Amino acid sequence: MIITIDGPAGSGKSTAARKLAAHLQIPYLDTGAMYRALAYLAVKDNIDLDDGPALLEMTRSAKLDLDCGPTHTRVRVNGEDVSEAIRTMEVSRATSPIARTQGIRDLLVGKQRELGYELGSFVTEGRDQGSVVFANADVHFVVDADLDCRAVRRWQELRADGEDVDLEEVRANLAARDANDAKQWAPLLVPGKAIRIDTSHMTIREVVACLVEHVHETIGK
Ligand code: DC
Repeated sequence: MIITIDGPAGSGKSTAARKLAAHLQIPYLDTGAMYRALAYLAVKDNIDLDDGPALLEMTRSAKLDLDCGPTHTRVRVNGEDVSEAIRTMEVSRATSPIARTQGIRDLLVGKQRELGYELGSFVTEGRDQGSVVFANADVHFVVDADLDCRAVRRWQELRADGEDVDLEEVRANLAARDANDAKQWAPLLVPGKAIRIDTSHMTIREVVACLVEHVHETIGK
């Protein structure tokens, strides 16, 4: 069984995907972690974020390993476990240049399909999982929330991780990423049979209950 959850940054898709995978006891694939791991490497190696060919070269020689379980995706790049280090604002800012480099997207999409093949049954989340990478999935979800809600959620996560960031800065970062993402490289396409959920006024518990219900309805058919 393949379940895709697509949505913009801060929509709650990661938490929802992780909790749904834990509920179903199947692995969870966080594809944003792959883009983030490369962004982390680019920042660490001081690579010019405007130099697409250099970013692509870095990606080709990077060793990216993912460990996907029902409650986690852990990511290693060149042997270093960066699962926590990829969550900072600095890395978030560097992900757009990575994600808009088409050659990098092609490599990561290939890697996601390989991983999916190995995993068999899994929940995957990103912006393009249902529309591009696993268009043949059994259940497609698209989750969204309004910008203010997403900004508050992301700000709370960063603060919980000890980052002293301003809510307005987080909101501006999300708005900029939305605009870039939509225009340039990964429009959030809604697969024909996708189930759309607006999580703005839902608790995570309600979101997960809603996902579980739809999965049972679809699979039960
Ligand atoms: O979901 P996230 O915030 O961890 O994603 C990090 C960045 O990677 C974000 O700017 C969107 C991008 N991304 C993408 O282009 N395609 C994916 N499948 C997953 C993430």
